[in-house]
Amino acid sequence: MDISACLGISPAGNLTIGGVDTVELAKTYKTPLYVMDEGQIRTACRDYRESIEKNYDGKGLVLYASKAFCCKEIYRIVKSEGLGADVVSAGELYTALSAGFPAENICFHGNNKTPQELEYALEEKVGYIVVDSNYELELLNRLAGEKGVTPNILFRIKPGIDAHTHKFIRTGQIDSKFGVALENGEAMEIMKQAAALPNIRVRGIHCHIGSQIFDIEPFELAAERMLGFLRDVKDQTGMQLGVVNLGGGFGIRYTQSDTPVPYGMYMEKVAEVLKNTCQKLNMPVPFVMMEPGRSIVGPAGLTLYTVGAVKEIPQVRTYVAVDGGMTDNPRYALYQAEYEAVVANRAGEPKSQTITLAGKCCESGDLLGENMLVQPVHSGDIIAVLATGAYNYSMASNYNRIPRPAVVMVRDGQAREIIHRENMRDLLHNDL
Ligand code: LLP
Repeated sequence: MDISACLGISPAGNLTIGGVDTVELAKTYKTPLYVMDEGQIRTACRDYRESIEKNYDGKGLVLYASKAFCCKEIYRIVKSEGLGADVVSAGELYTALSAGFPAENICFHGNNKTPQELEYALEEKVGYIVVDSNYELELLNRLAGEKGVTPNILFRIKPGIDAHTHKFIRTGQIDSKFGVALENGEAMEIMKQAAALPNIRVRGIHCHIGSQIFDIEPFELAAERMLGFLRDVKDQTGMQLGVVNLGGGFGIRYTQSDTPVPYGMYMEKVAEVLKNTCQKLNMPVPFVMMEPGRSIVGPAGLTLYTVGAVKEIPQVRTYVAVDGGMTDNPRYALYQAEYEAVVANRAGEPKSQTITLAGKCCESGDLLGENMLVQPVHSGDIIAVLATGAYNYSMASNYNRIPRPAVVMVRDGQAREIIHRENMRDLLHNDL
């Protein structure tokens, strides 16, 4: 199947993932069900790691952006593949540490980390804290002083790049809640301020220009601007900073019309720009970090649903309702994100029916997609929505008191549950 290398069709005509029959998975684990292919995740991790080693002579680190899919098992997998991790909350940090993830390979982001979160990160000695504002710089310096520690910090910089992606996931431009801007001098101001603070160790800078980006140019431009800034920082403050974290954001294929750049090519081009810029500016090549999230887990996942009501409204549309929806995948409701769907128990047949895939929430906007071309579909069928490995489970909610689905990992033809399905007791767990 075009969307993802881990998909196939069984002799019986059922959709498979990682060699496992999805219709069988639906029977065993019930629906809705998230399924992830471990082989595909590991291949993506390896590709990134090898390419950073090759392009920077080993002077770099790939951090998995765990907001894309966060649970203990994913931290164990990315750790075993030699990646670090990016976390954005005490909850993600706690999950990582609970899975035995080494704190020194963790980068802590966030535009408004609470004092408690900063204290936790300091106590656990995370590798880097990415400072997002003046407020945070002063707070962190004070808390570090109180604890007698000196954290390594990076600064979140807005390089002034407007990447072509949905406005909710665009972050490199000046009008963004994240970071400090280059173009109005704010970034240089904060560097000067930091240079005088005793309880922090300024190591470098970070940017993340957005997510689900297909062009290479914005990344190249970001790399160039970040290095230019490093050079200016050296000239104006005397600080020679050795770390540049270029964030994540590489797009994946959700539908046939998506044409992502192969990551190897992207990494190579950015490395080329980076090295050339360093030469031009007469500065050493910094230690480079990258933070892919979506591209590591997105294509490795799918979600299985059971079809319930099918409402054919003549001259209007056909609603096919499933047993999940915006509670397990809010991305269509939030970003009009498009997906491909397959009738898993009829995957070998041609797609001939156009449907609107609806969820079960009390909300008209609770759709998983419109104008989706699928095989003929009937009540009781199993529908798979593809490429749901990123920003689905991690963005799931209990709206309408719907329990979150289980997550099953498949590998070499075997399946294992990595997150249990929530039950009714879980829903009442915190109710008094
Ligand atoms: N680094 C930082 C600082 C980030 O903010 C993000 C994503 C990443 C790395 C990873 O970006 P990726 O490689 O996954 O594109 N919920 C949205 C996506 C939000 C992305 C937030 N930051 C969605 O479902 O499309």
